[in-house]
Amino acid sequence: MLQNVLLPLLALVAKARGIDYTGYVNVFTGTQSGGNDFPGVARPFSMVKLGPDLLNNATDSYSGYHHIGNFSGFSMMHEQGTGGAPKYGTVSQLPLVGNITNPLSNITVGRAVADQGSVGYYKSQTTENVTIELASTSHAGMYQYTFPVSSPSNNVLIDMSHVLPSFRGQGLGQGYAGGHFSIMEDGHYEASGIYNNGWNRSPNWTIYSCGYFNITPTAAHAYIGAAAGSNNLVQNSGSATSTSSDVYIGGLYTFNTSIVSSRVGISWISNERACQNFEKEIPRASSFSTVVSNTKDIWNSQILSKIKTTSTNTTNLELLYTSLYFMHLLPTNQTGENPGWTSSEPYYSDIYTLWDLFRCSTALLHVLQSVVYEEYIRSMIDIWRFDGYLPDARSSNYNGRTQGGSNADNVLADAYVKGVQGQINWEDGYAAMVKNAEVTPLNTDPDPMAPDSSTKEGRGALPDWLAYGFITPTYSRAASRAVDYAYNDFSLYQVAKGLGKDDDAAKYLNRSRNWRNHWNTDLQSIGYSGFIIPRNLSNFIENDPLTDTGYWSDPYYEASSWEYSWGDIHDMRKLADWMGGPDTFFSRLETMFTIGADPNNPGGIIFDSTNEPTFNVPYLYNFIGRDDRSVYQSRKVAKTYNTGVSGLPGNSDAGAMQTWLLWNMIGLYPVTGQTTFLIHSPWFESLTINLSNGKTLQITSTGGDGNGDTDYYVQSLKVNREDWTQNWLTWNDVFENGGTMHFVLGAELTQWATGDLPPSPATEPITCRQLSKEH
Ligand SMILES: *[C@@H]1O[C@H](CO)[C@@H](O)[C@H](O)[C@H]1NC(C)=O
Ligand SMILES: *[C@@H]1O[C@H](CO)[C@@H](O)[C@H](O)[C@H]1NC(C)=O
Ligand SMILES: *[C@@H]1O[C@H](CO)[C@@H](O)[C@H](O)[C@H]1NC(C)=O
Ligand SMILES: *[C@@H]1O[C@H](CO)[C@@H](O)[C@H](O)[C@H]1NC(C)=O
Ligand SMILES: *[C@@H]1O[C@H](CO)[C@@H](O)[C@H](O)[C@H]1NC(C)=O
Ligand SMILES: *[C@@H]1O[C@H](CO)[C@@H](O)[C@H](O)[C@H]1NC(C)=O
Ligand SMILES: *[C@@H]1O[C@H](CO)[C@@H](O)[C@H](O)[C@H]1NC(C)=O
Ligand SMILES: *[C@@H]1O[C@H](CO)[C@@H](O)[C@H](O)[C@H]1NC(C)=O
Ligand SMILES: *[C@@H]1O[C@H](CO)[C@@H](O)[C@H](O)[C@H]1NC(C)=O
Ligand SMILES: *[C@@H]1O[C@H](CO)[C@@H](O)[C@H](O)[C@H]1NC(C)=O
Ligand SMILES: *[C@@H]1O[C@H](CO)[C@@H](O)[C@H](O)[C@H]1NC(C)=O
Ligand SMILES: *[C@@H]1O[C@H](CO)[C@@H](O)[C@H](O)[C@H]1NC(C)=O
Repeated sequence: MLQNVLLPLLALVAKARGIDYTGYVNVFTGTQSGGNDFPGVARPFSMVKLGPDLLNNATDSYSGYHHIGNFSGFSMMHEQGTGGAPKYGTVSQLPLVGNITNPLSNITVGRAVADQGSVGYYKSQTTENVTIELASTSHAGMYQYTFPVSSPSNNVLIDMSHVLPSFRGQGLGQGYAGGHFSIMEDGHYEASGIYNNGWNRSPNWTIYSCGYFNITPTAAHAYIGAAAGSNNLVQNSGSATSTSSDVYIGGLYTFNTSIVSSRVGISWISNERACQNFEKEIPRASSFSTVVSNTKDIWNSQILSKIKTTSTNTTNLELLYTSLYFMHLLPTNQTGENPGWTSSEPYYSDIYTLWDLFRCSTALLHVLQSVVYEEYIRSMIDIWRFDGYLPDARSSNYNGRTQGGSNADNVLADAYVKGVQGQINWEDGYAAMVKNAEVTPLNTDPDPMAPDSSTKEGRGALPDWLAYGFITPTYSRAASRAVDYAYNDFSLYQVAKGLGKDDDAAKYLNRSRNWRNHWNTDLQSIGYSGFIIPRNLSNFIENDPLTDTGYWSDPYYEASSWEYSWGDIHDMRKLADWMGGPDTFFSRLETMFTIGADPNNPGGIIFDSTNEPTFNVPYLYNFIGRDDRSVYQSRKVAKTYNTGVSGLPGNSDAGAMQTWLLWNMIGLYPVTGQTTFLIHSPWFESLTINLSNGKTLQITSTGGDGNGDTDYYVQSLKVNREDWTQNWLTWNDVFENGGTMHFVLGAELTQWATGDLPPSPATEPITCRQLSKEH
């Protein structure tokens, strides 16, 4: 029922500038079945993400959008593809026809036809036959309303209490705590709203807005009224202020013409800044179609044209460019819009969430958007400088969630080992990582879902980790946190080593092996023994590694022991050794893709493409020289993605899913925190990536089907025109100064990679005795 309509406008945009890649983007991809993609209008990393907010039968609308339900507003702030509980949905307008007697009564209006959208353009129609078209810039948005010609009374409602509600019953619903609404002398409005809670349990935050209409209204009023109902509703021609969640405020503009447009700016700083933002970005003379086409141009020139392929297969071009699009909506570049402190450093927020993004997204962002990437890293270090800790998930300017480890450590280490320098102060970066590794965050506002330790930032279970080298059930998520903390400590090792801090490096390398303290060699499950499981001071704790997946208060977060046991990619050779050698490592990997954990789901498999903890798993075959199987398993998973509304396996998670897919198309897989990229197999005959230094990485293949569906096994490979026999390469080989990779593909399984296996830097050198034990 939903369509991605390529408007006539698009044809205009294609014009002189070459290929219009936005035509390959389907903004409705992954908007249903839990994908939570945001289909509204946005620019890359923009503060404004303007789209519809739907209320549907008490179901959470994470990105605002839902394919059924009533419109509660069209708001300027959204996240992209997240789960947990909805955030934002703030600064909205809602068009309504007729006499509105009680504007502040949570009015909704039905949807007449399926929404339409393309990059930079969105269109909805209400059951009152009002058409709403949306366009946006970085800090401002434009609404174009077409009311029924016959209607004498056309309204736009601005309800300051409007947020995306949560119905999950976890205490994570957003709150409204007051604000103000003022109609200024020339008729424009200036407003602010105070909000709190939501997914990251944020304290009060304030957003300012400034709105203009292009038509003189027949009436404009501010309203103030009791939240609980229509009692005490006051119509006030000038302004209204509320300092209470119980008192709603807002405004209603009424027009007697059918075509009305509105330009609105937002700011985290002030109303004045909100007005400046739209005056600068959508000046008075701007036409709606110019704002739309400028947005398309920016996506084409800055983002989508960075990857080119000779493929003409529309299915795959759409998947490629749609995935690229969705990975560039978050984080938000809020530079100049930081209400917390004054600093000359850039400022990024809506970092949502590094525990999902660190495996695939940040490494790809580095390749494609090196300027953003460097600013992003500097901003994280600045957040530590002024807020005390690096963020793991930050929105509304609050470090409000950490699920396992302090995974900014992994992101910083990845940048460091790949030589990212620019204006980054690495001594400070390392100090921020040491804070994570050594200083337990205060638990000042215990999370009802996991009250034992802070879920805000840092590493809540650090006292156990420091005292014992493992985490006891004193702490929730003990097993999955241990897997993350070991990875994080490896990241500290990498940076300490590079900065010449040898004692620290030795200490953190040691600590990066502590996942081993959770390894219970004796625990058996479906024919295998040895798993990462919960333990206390004296014993391992009984559990079933197949079914022990859980949530905030459990020993494992969103994956089972079977899955988390693969988690520490810096120590893979040790894992293979402990699993019983390469043959068992292989058959255990196979079991991940053949046996289900849930007896009620006979077709199911342990590997879970819907969540990030097992992102690495299909590629781990490379560590035992079976890269052919990495190609097979990862391709099977990748080919479950499509551009349909249910085309994502799980929540996009700010683009994490899309970047996993993009690496599969490219034929490489990043090992975050190391310079290593695992080699599998590319989809296309030719793919060229523009790198930051003006160089390119060109990946070509012959012998495959050109779509990655069949004949995808590597027969031979040349890197920079030389024969290549390792199933991995490093940043320096093809990214640092550009490079070429030429694959010969085919249907045959060949042992082309006869060289060294990928590094396992935390594993002690193998002794002869260990080697002989393996065979
Ligand atoms: C909405 O809720 C009503 C009442 O519970 C139910 O009958 C209806 O099927 C639901 N609609 C959808 C789309 O879930
Ligand atoms: C709407 O309000 C106007 C002016 O107050 C009034 O004349 C008109 O009858 C009302 N229309 C309806 C349908 O209530
Ligand atoms: C949806 O909006 C229509 C008016 O357009 C209204 O009659 C209906 O009650 C609304 N439904 C809900 C569930 O709010
Ligand atoms: C809706 O509006 C359009 C033009 O604005 C008009 O052509 C159409 O007849 C209207 N439909 C209804 C059901 O009022
Ligand atoms: C529409 O409203 C404007 C502004 O109040 C007024 O000048 C104009 O006369 C109105 N037109 C009609 C047809 O009511
Ligand atoms: C609006 O919705 C909120 C939150 O669901 C509720 O607390 C409030 O009572 C509602 N107000 C009205 C006037 O319906
Ligand atoms: C949040 O804002 C409201 C006023 O809108 C105020 O009453 C409340 O005390 C604030 N909460 C905190 C923690 O500052
Ligand atoms: C990519 O590289 C080509 C050739 O060097 C260049 O023309 C184009 O502008 C680049 N595109 C981007 C987005 O950097
Ligand atoms: C981030 O935003 C600031 C302020 O708008 C801008 O100056 C800067 O260029 C942006 N960064 C990037 C990489 O576009
Ligand atoms: C490494 O850990 C072991 C065991 O916990 C300890 O004996 C040793 O001193 C540690 N070495 C360093 C360099 O921290
Ligand atoms: C540790 O766990 C074992 C197995 O569950 C239990 O029997 C023992 O009492 C626990 N010991 C402590 C100190 O909690
Ligand atoms: C295009 O690609 C899809 C997915 O890889 C494939 O199913 C289809 O056969 C391809 N079409 C052509 C004409 O090659």
